[in-house]
Amino acid sequence: MNLYPKTFRYPLITLEKTNSTNQYISQLCNQQPEEVAELTTVTAEFQMAGKGQRGNSWEAEEGKNLLFSFVLYPTFLEARRQFILSQIVSLAIKEELSRWSDDITIKWPNDIYWKNKKISGILIENDLVGPRIARSIAGIGININQDTFRSDAPNPISLKQITGKEHDRHEILTHILKRVEMYYKGLQLEDFETYSAEINTRYARSLFRRRGFHSYQDADGLFLARLLRVEQDGRFVLEDESGKEREYLFKEVQYIL
Ligand code: BTN
Repeated sequence: MNLYPKTFRYPLITLEKTNSTNQYISQLCNQQPEEVAELTTVTAEFQMAGKGQRGNSWEAEEGKNLLFSFVLYPTFLEARRQFILSQIVSLAIKEELSRWSDDITIKWPNDIYWKNKKISGILIENDLVGPRIARSIAGIGININQDTFRSDAPNPISLKQITGKEHDRHEILTHILKRVEMYYKGLQLEDFETYSAEINTRYARSLFRRRGFHSYQDADGLFLARLLRVEQDGRFVLEDESGKEREYLFKEVQYIL
């Protein structure tokens, strides 16, 4: 365990192995309520049971990648606006990775892609108390220096595979946390509606397949559509070839890659 290394502004717990950094920090918060500061971050070199979205697992070779989770207490945020947290975390990662490569986008709702391949996944677990968000744990996996992928994940890629060189994981982590903090403070300190609209615009400009017609699949089958917008509550709005608007919540529509 390594608390407060000089280059990192937040409490940092670095683990060799754990089941899941999301699970670790959530247990820590439960055991020490009020004592785990905002943006406290847990990293691991390896996860035995890394959690992905939709009950999937997240696999990453030991010592090569970024696997981390941090905690926020966004009590100022109404539960119905929780998608803004996904947006700021996605933007922070997308913007940091864009320093190293072109063609980094956010695949709605919060995967990070390079061209048609996934470089990073985000799992945000919110604890709601009444209409507010009491605690939010954001877990992030970024493929950094892994050379080959053996898991059944369909289309993984690492930063090293893109740029052809090794990257400093701690530097990337530090930059991402700084960006998350900047956006998060903005949400707290600026006029919320203006600031969140600005975030939504930035998010929209960063989206995967934001122009042109592409293939999608919903419960009724395959169709071609173009992206119209993402609503502030996270709904994904497409226009199909007949000009009809189709609106989706998470998991209701799939991109066909
Ligand atoms: C996805 O399915 O795309 C989300 C993947 C999230 C993986 C990260 S790795 C660090 C953190 N700990 C976990 O158990 N999951 C997240």
